[in-house]
This record gives sequence, C-alpha cells and structure tokens, in this order.
Amino acid sequence: MENRKVRIALTKGRIEDKAVELLERIGYDVFELRNKGRKLILSIPGEDIEVVLAKAADVITYVEHGVCDLGVVGKDTIMEHGGRFFEVLDLGFGKCKFALAVKKGNNFYDGYGVKTVATKYPEVTRNFFESKGIDVDIVKIEGSVELAPLVGLSDGIVDIVETGTTLKENGLEVFEDVAPISARLIVNTVSMKLKQERVTEIVKLITAQLPQ
Ligand code: PRP
Repeated sequence: MENRKVRIALTKGRIEDKAVELLERIGYDVFELRNKGRKLILSIPGEDIEVVLAKAADVITYVEHGVCDLGVVGKDTIMEHGGRFFEVLDLGFGKCKFALAVKKGNNFYDGYGVKTVATKYPEVTRNFFESKGIDVDIVKIEGSVELAPLVGLSDGIVDIVETGTTLKENGLEVFEDVAPISARLIVNTVSMKLKQERVTEIVKLITAQLPQ
C-alpha cells in the first residue's frame, strides 16, 4: 500500500453526526465535514487525515481493501457482512439492538412447524437460530420488514429496534433480543502494521474521548 495520508471512512446517515462530533472533540477541524455539499472526500485542515463518507457496507469494503485505514460502522453491518479487519473500539453511540419481533401476543415458538422469519439481515438471522439449534425458513426483504408478519408472509422478523416505535405502530413487539448494536471503529489489517504509529495515535485520541 502506498504511504499516503490516513484515510477514515465514516458511515453516512444515522451515525454520521456522532462520528463527526467525536472527531471534533479530538480537536480536529470538522468544518468541511459539516459543510460537505456533494463532496465525498473531505480533508481535515492541518492533519494528514482524509475522511470519506460511504454506505455502511461500503465502509467495510473500503477498509477491507485497504483504501481506507480506519472505518466507523455499525455492529449490525459488521455482523451481517463479516470481513477481514480489526474491530478495535466500541464507540458507544448508535446504540440499538437486533431483535426477533412478532405480532403482539404471539409466541414465536408455539406449534411444531418450521417457522418463517423475514429480515434484511439473513446472516444475522441464520447465526442466531443456528446457535439455538432451531431450523427456520428465512425470507430476505429489502424494505420495511415489519410488513411481512402483518400480511402473513412470516411468523416473525429479525430487525433493528431502536426506540421500538416502528414495531408498536404496526402492532408488533419484541419477542426476544438477538444482539446489542453500536458503532464500532474498524482498522485495516495491513494499516495496523504499516501505519502502526499513526493509527495507534488516532485510536488513542478517540479512546480518550469515550465515556469511561
Ligand atoms: C430501522 C429498522 C426499523 C427502524 C426501527 O430502519 O429497520 O424499521 O429502524 O427504529 P425504531 O425502533 O426507533 O422505530 P432504518 O430507519 O434504519 O431504515 P432502513 O429501512 O434503511 O434500515
């Protein structure tokens, strides 16, 4: 890998503001990050750091390929996508959970037939039920997965629950928690060796800003 600047990939959207705030608390000038317009590669004045903004799964791809040294991405995407990188810090923001949800009052495990679960996260769902030794049919959904049990496509869903409002407004409820989620800092395996000093320095600066 060329010896260029340190490049950090941030996940666009929900956790973007918190990640930018974190960089600001370190003392970085985040003006460009806050006034980015349509620009995709942003610089931090006075630092050898470049920031790129990408969709969660792409943050992992960029870090895995080594074109970004560090990444901020949700545990949900890490669990679904997997990949070869170091997950070095739990950043403590973007907290929510994966949960198995059903129509209010239903017992997911009632009856003998193989149950159907709709989800945007088939890997997470597969691993969850495999760890319990339960056979389920998984249906991959791209949009609002809450719809699936309402129209009779599935017995339950595995999805992200943050406030619980989406479930409540659709007559669904959490039946079982699957896994906690929060934003994580990931590091490319090669950068960890070739840029060890700088990467370690940045990780330490970030760690110092996290609540103890
Ligand atoms: C997630 C998830 C739920 C909703 C839960 O979707 O799929 O629909 O958030 O949040 P709540 O518990 O606070 O109601 P998101 O908004 O991330 O959009 P997505 O469909 O792009 O995943």
